[in-house]
Amino acid sequence: MSHQLIIVLDFGGQYNQLIARRVRECGVYCEVWSHKTDIAKIAEAKPAGIIFTGGPNSVYDEKSPHIGKEIFELGIPILGICYGAQLIAYTLGGTVQTCTVSEYGKTETCYDRSSVLFGGTDGLPESAVSWMSHTDYVAKVPDGFRITAHTKDCPAAGFEDADRRFYAVQFHPEVNHTQYGIAMLYSFVRGICGSVGDWTMSGYAKTAIEDIRRKVGDKKALLALSGGVDSSVAAALLARAIGPQLTCIFVDHGFMRKNEGDEVENAFKDFGLNFVRVNAADRFINKLTGVSEPEQKRKLIGEEFIRVFEDEAKKIGAVDFLAQGTIYPDVIESGLGDAAVIKSHHNVGGLPDYVDFKEIIEPLRMLFKDEVRALGRELGLSDVLVDRQPFPGPGLAIRIIGEITREKLDILRDADLIFREEIANAGLDKKPDQYFAVLTNNRSVGVMGDGRTYDYTLALRAVTTSDFMTADFAPLPYELLGKISARIVNEVKMVNRIVYDVTTKPPATIEWE
Ligand code: XMP
Repeated sequence: MSHQLIIVLDFGGQYNQLIARRVRECGVYCEVWSHKTDIAKIAEAKPAGIIFTGGPNSVYDEKSPHIGKEIFELGIPILGICYGAQLIAYTLGGTVQTCTVSEYGKTETCYDRSSVLFGGTDGLPESAVSWMSHTDYVAKVPDGFRITAHTKDCPAAGFEDADRRFYAVQFHPEVNHTQYGIAMLYSFVRGICGSVGDWTMSGYAKTAIEDIRRKVGDKKALLALSGGVDSSVAAALLARAIGPQLTCIFVDHGFMRKNEGDEVENAFKDFGLNFVRVNAADRFINKLTGVSEPEQKRKLIGEEFIRVFEDEAKKIGAVDFLAQGTIYPDVIESGLGDAAVIKSHHNVGGLPDYVDFKEIIEPLRMLFKDEVRALGRELGLSDVLVDRQPFPGPGLAIRIIGEITREKLDILRDADLIFREEIANAGLDKKPDQYFAVLTNNRSVGVMGDGRTYDYTLALRAVTTSDFMTADFAPLPYELLGKISARIVNEVKMVNRIVYDVTTKPPATIEWE
């Protein structure tokens, strides 16, 4: 694929992926590389620019990641962020010291707009808020540099050598809290590096389709489709490329939400691929009879998934390619592309090693989640699939506390649908990042008409989160909660009490099991 490249050199910063995402938002392709990468390899890639990330270390710590001076001799523009800024100063002969006052959080910052970086930053005033997080600071900038920004406690919040095209900021432009931060990155990648903005999902789709065709030729490929965003978009892309040479196996384990299995099937019916839906609900429910321990449930579902997939794959016979919906964050987290990353497990439990295939293809391997969604739209996938919130591989089986029965599955499906409908009616369907119902195994006394009931308690869970590692409960309006509660107890049999989960993660998790 020929498009310009920006390399984000990772020095261990917590925002490395965010920087890359922001650069791509500027329409410029960008990859995160390890700081250990050979400088010759960097030169060979001919990037339009290089960004040094932040990092938790001090440049004076011998064990902290450093970079050879030669990188500054390539004639390529460089932007250093936080630790990256200190590294530029340190490597080129400036001085870095421990702050007398560390800065953390939103910080009023003064900019010199005669700077090339800040002068090219659309709308930037002389003073605005930036996001700081540092305990070292640049006390003296290297020869040839001039200071272009400062704060009350940081004399060199920005500095640059415009002749050699080296730029540095002590703050984090990639974080939303930095006002005009994205515009600063835009100024660097589009202005200073001269990138033309040739990274679009329509362009990606076109070249990815050509690449897949070239690679697969007239051979066959197999994909395990879960109905989640990644595998769905991978299926759509492969379908465009190789159509009937692709077989997608969709294992419906019977723990999908209401109508979900049919939705997935319908979404792919016009894609010209071979779609195999395996209705394996009986197999799964039989396996889980009498099982109530969460880990045991997950394990059994994972194992059974493999068995079902294997049975179906055998019917198809040997294939040359096994396709997977691995995305870029998985690649970065598993070693920055240093090693070949083969995501060997499906989110349910693990793909069988023993399915007979020669090679893996991962057409989304270089895409971030928001790009995967944009690509899905580009390929004509419906919003239902593209905007799907995360859904755990084991499905509703881990949203029914204790033993699973068909009756409980029906109760949960109906209640969960009402919850989702009302969230959508309130126009909040894009607000909480995830929301769902949980059927507890608690029963309590209630009164319905003139009669006593002894029915289930159903919990509603809605969270806001950016990374799903931590989460807040969503502050849904009481009125809305009241409406959902009234509908569920009236419309769903055997539920007489609704509770709203108001726990953050940690200490709770998002799912209940
Ligand atoms: P927890 O419950 O660990 O969930 O806070 C974090 C996120 O992961 C999803 N989740 C899963 N996703 N397979 C998946 O693909 C699983 O087994 C699984 N378990 C939890 C959960 O829905 C939430 O978005």
